[in-house]
Amino acid sequence: MTPFGSSSAVTTGDDAYGPIDTLHSFMGRWIEQRSLPLNLREAIRYSLLAPGKRTRPLLLMHSCEALGGALDDAVAPAAAIEMIHAFSLVHDDRPALDNDDLRRGRPTLHRQSCEAMAILAGDAMMGLAFELVAESVEPPVRAQRVLQELLRGCNDMIVGQVYDTLPCPDDTLPARVRLDRIHSNKTGALIRAACRIGAICADADQQGLASMSRYGEAIGLMFQIVDDLLDVTQTTEHLGKTAGKDADQDKLTYPAVLGVEASRAEVARLRRDALDALSHLGPDAEPLSRLCEYLAVRTK
Ligand code: IPE
Ligand code: IPE
Ligand code: MG
Ligand code: MG
Ligand code: MG
Repeated sequence: MTPFGSSSAVTTGDDAYGPIDTLHSFMGRWIEQRSLPLNLREAIRYSLLAPGKRTRPLLLMHSCEALGGALDDAVAPAAAIEMIHAFSLVHDDRPALDNDDLRRGRPTLHRQSCEAMAILAGDAMMGLAFELVAESVEPPVRAQRVLQELLRGCNDMIVGQVYDTLPCPDDTLPARVRLDRIHSNKTGALIRAACRIGAICADADQQGLASMSRYGEAIGLMFQIVDDLLDVTQTTEHLGKTAGKDADQDKLTYPAVLGVEASRAEVARLRRDALDALSHLGPDAEPLSRLCEYLAVRTK
């Protein structure tokens, strides 16, 4: 028996959903075939295959399809972006950052295993994500563009985590400006990258790419405002992660700066903006519209 227990089964809450099933099988197989120490593989499976919403891979796959691309071309980049996201969660939860005990309804990796494994499994998921794209995406020119977007999204996420965790004491910008800088980097950047990578996998033209950038920026900020709202309005049991932590840790959040009602109004505005960015696309963009509607009202 490893510290991870006997099962790391994939559960999504929506097992009938095709693209998620495809993604899960791909991630499971890819991790299995990569030569890794047993304990590292188990730690990665524990974090990566835990029941998350898969928002970023879904955005990537739906963006690809919205612009006329094939789902098959989006699966490897979708797996890679979920690996980067899983790395960000493992490190976000570590004692030096948010110091959380619960993630996706389970003990956080440093609690389940140890701090060293949380550092190393997080690092490994980041590196493996880039390896996966480099070896799986064709043709090479597309692989290079996908890597560029993924690197930018990943590095801006880290920049956002710095703004969030280690604010500069001499930073005199107004709270709202600092808040938007945190959110658009720590969460917005990877979500925007997901949408843009979807467009790249569809060989979209400049207009298609611009639509996905605008949609992704609106959804990305909206996603973190909703996350901030859920932290103050939901229970730990429902969220599967600790509620009420942002105020305890004195985080700069939308509810803290604007209040709950004004934060909800921002969500509504960004939802409209995201849907507007899709308005000139045809029926293939319907899954992206539905995902936007869901992300605006999600409760976990
Ligand atoms: C949580 O992300 C961290 C944020 C960027 C807000 P998600 O809400 O997408 O977490 P999972 O993947 O569904 O667990
Ligand atoms: C995390 O933001 C953003 C990441 C880069 C992971 P939060 O710290 O608000 O995410 P949760 O609430 O712990 O999921
Ligand atoms: Mg955090
Ligand atoms: Mg956190
Ligand atoms: Mg949060």
